Amino acid sequence: MSGAISRWINERAPSLVPMYRKHLSEYYAPKNFNVMYYFGSLAMLVLVNQILTGIFLAMFYKPSALEVFHGTSEAFASVYYIMRDVNWGWLIRYMHTTGASMFFVVVYLHMFRGLMYGSFKKPRELVWILGMLIFLALMAEAFMGYVLPWGNMSFWGAKVIISLFGAIPYVGETLVHWIMGDFSPADATLNRFFSLHVVALPMVLLLLVVLHLAALHEVGSNNPDGVEIKKHKNERGIPLDGIPFHPYYTVKDLFGVGVFLMVCAFIIFYAPTMGGWFLEHDNYIPANHLVTPAAIRPVWYFTPFYAILLMIPFKLPGVLAMFVGIFLLFLTPWIDRGAVKSIRYRGMGFKVALGLFAISFIGLGLVGAEVINEVVPQIFGPAADVTFWRNVFGRIMLAIYFGFFVFLWIYTYFGLEKTKPVPERVTTHD
Ligand code: HEM
Repeated sequence: MSGAISRWINERAPSLVPMYRKHLSEYYAPKNFNVMYYFGSLAMLVLVNQILTGIFLAMFYKPSALEVFHGTSEAFASVYYIMRDVNWGWLIRYMHTTGASMFFVVVYLHMFRGLMYGSFKKPRELVWILGMLIFLALMAEAFMGYVLPWGNMSFWGAKVIISLFGAIPYVGETLVHWIMGDFSPADATLNRFFSLHVVALPMVLLLLVVLHLAALHEVGSNNPDGVEIKKHKNERGIPLDGIPFHPYYTVKDLFGVGVFLMVCAFIIFYAPTMGGWFLEHDNYIPANHLVTPAAIRPVWYFTPFYAILLMIPFKLPGVLAMFVGIFLLFLTPWIDRGAVKSIRYRGMGFKVALGLFAISFIGLGLVGAEVINEVVPQIFGPAADVTFWRNVFGRIMLAIYFGFFVFLWIYTYFGLEKTKPVPERVTTHD
């Protein structure tokens, strides 16, 4: 029966089988993948989760800032209708909100893996660039989604972030009004953000992910040893250290999926707000343009970049630094000129610098999330100058963040790196 079906399909779409072979059953991936290689497939899983749960949310959500009863918009009310009245609506919404944060957990680890093993280096620069474009689209997608419940943080977050464009000389103010469709975030803003969030950006993301994988499958995967498995092939042209992606890595990835889903289920069922990190307290209050939240700060995944803005005294330089902070990641393949890919065989300087870079990213995140403001009085006593110490800490982190790229360029451009010999084959071969 299945043979007849596949023959029927094959006669009508003969290119499907070669495609299946190229990307799954005859895609030879290095056999030494470690846990850091789970996050690509997990990112795909979360993307699918966001799209499916998003479709169901969109069936009940109303993108309208119009007031339905005292100070509450139709949008806000529709979200609480989903939470309280729609069957399983609470589950669908928590799967979507938890998915948003977990998307960034997974993508940050996926990017860090790339830095550790030099996966951004030749011949995978395009894979990296496409990944960075995904990251940009993902940030836009998450930001617009956050505005939709039209809570007080949605409103003020939108106001602060869109107003950043006001720092651009001459056209800034006009641009801000153009994006908002009004003089402040309003119904028009909510409508266009809804449209972009549910239609345009998901399509962009899907397209970019397809291109990301197509680019990867042209050159083949890197691995924790950073050696090119295509250099050693058998007489049939199959890499000696490669194994077919399906069934070996489909099964291995399923294990990662199991563990990941358990973590997500725990959050969804026992701690859906994650203490205000995944769903902020101020967003349980309807949007109110007369009441500013005590602290306007973005969700945790934006806080490292937001802190760059905070740590620079003037608006335009702050905004520029924030964009440069992201742009430098795009340029990493050309900043890092070291010949050795994997951290396993790179110089001590790289290992220390990458460790410090990760610390600075988390440190900046703590500054942006204002965790530092609570820590300072505990260390220096209640009379301590919180802003001063926050700025000292934040600027050290900022210097390390940007210093990483400067160091990496000098370290590799002038040949200062003392690397270890890279093995010919992956270290697990026997
Ligand atoms: C929706 C987001 C993303 C999805 C679904 C995704 C998916 C994948 C998948 C399935 C792989 C192959 C499996 C693996 O190596 O883990 C991969 C590899 C890769 N991704 Fe992504 N990715 C995403 C975002 C990113 C981002 C933001 C970057 C970095 C800027 C990035 C950089 C890379 C690199 C360099 C590789 C090759 C890794 C290697 O061969 O060592 N990806 N991606």
